[in-house]
Amino acid sequence: GPSPLIDQFGRQVTYLRLSVTDRCDLRCTYCMAEHMTFLPRRDVLSLEELYDLAQVFMRGGVRKIRLTGGEPLVRKNIIQLFELLSAHLRNGDLDEVTLTTNGTLLARHAEALFAAGVRRVNVSLDSRDPARYAQITRWGRLDAVLNGIDAALAAGLKVKLNAVALRGAFEREVDDLIRFAHGRGMDLTLIEEMPLGEAGHDRGESFLSLRDLRRSLAERWTMVAVEDRTGGPARYVRLAETGGRLGFITPLSCDFCASCNRVRISCTGDLFTCMGQEGSVGLRDALRGEDPAVVVGRMIRDALGCKPKGHSFEISGQAINGIARHMSVLGG
Ligand code: GTP
Ligand code: 5AD
Ligand code: SF4
Repeated sequence: GPSPLIDQFGRQVTYLRLSVTDRCDLRCTYCMAEHMTFLPRRDVLSLEELYDLAQVFMRGGVRKIRLTGGEPLVRKNIIQLFELLSAHLRNGDLDEVTLTTNGTLLARHAEALFAAGVRRVNVSLDSRDPARYAQITRWGRLDAVLNGIDAALAAGLKVKLNAVALRGAFEREVDDLIRFAHGRGMDLTLIEEMPLGEAGHDRGESFLSLRDLRRSLAERWTMVAVEDRTGGPARYVRLAETGGRLGFITPLSCDFCASCNRVRISCTGDLFTCMGQEGSVGLRDALRGEDPAVVVGRMIRDALGCKPKGHSFEISGQAINGIARHMSVLGG
């Protein structure tokens, strides 16, 4: 068969994160500006085009596809794309088809997602305090997410919670999030805030190093090292008190770029070989042109020849080194 996708540093790409929309029903302060201008619909790839693109990556050995956004569940008919991709779970091309969601629309879609072959979802939940949740998301309703989580579990989906660790309230709330997640059999992953786009707050103030947080957690919780990996950047421990898994995603305090196995596609068909660098390669025109499988396949291999060694993020004292693109362009 065709050769695997390997970059200039010998890292093989087996994980594709495919953004299906730049839109979202929330405006998390660290992710989007309050007033976002969304892309005109004609610039966004059709579901068929997203599927075609995914197939090019599968031919290059991609085994895991995660749909992201924006919020993937706001995209009309998105279940159809899950169904198309899931055929590749059955024929052995893929190991996993999944999504990262804010959970607000999960109650409506959980059963359909399970029926379409999804077995695991990552749900973003930074706080269990309704007022604080509304503040972070600018208008989100905590109830909607909690209902979504319940519906996902009832539908048979495994759920992992993602929480961005922001200095201040988070140190007080993290224990509650741990008990909540582990009490329901869910993993919890903590994420360091990355300087992507304008946040509307000072990231030097909000940044919380997970290296530091972990040290303080270790005073209250017994962490048992585990080698479990889910294919993403999280490093897990098991908490003896709960039996549940706690993950740490530490791009700033301890980066994981050397073992990077992933690339991202925006909803306009731009390939980003690194989330933490500016560069991208537009694939949309080639996808709509002659012999797309061959041409796009070649463009992807060329781009991998230039995949950066790692991100360029930095937050230390006064120095903040980030990039202009908002998180919502690629969904993390
Ligand atoms: P699993 O399949 O459960 O391992 O999920 P995942 O961690 O791959 O996906 P998820 O969407 O839950 O990602 C959580 C967060 O990790 C993202 O929102 C990003 O903030 C961060 N992240 C994931 N991949 C990368 C990466 O390649 N570089 C950086 N800097 N951050 C990443
Ligand atoms: N830094 C780190 N994580 C972020 N997310 C959104 N913006 C940022 C940021 N600036 C997280 C969301 C969600 C995932 C898709 O990315 O909370 O869990
Ligand atoms: Fe929407 Fe997720 Fe960004 Fe929040 S983090 S604004 S839920 S895409």
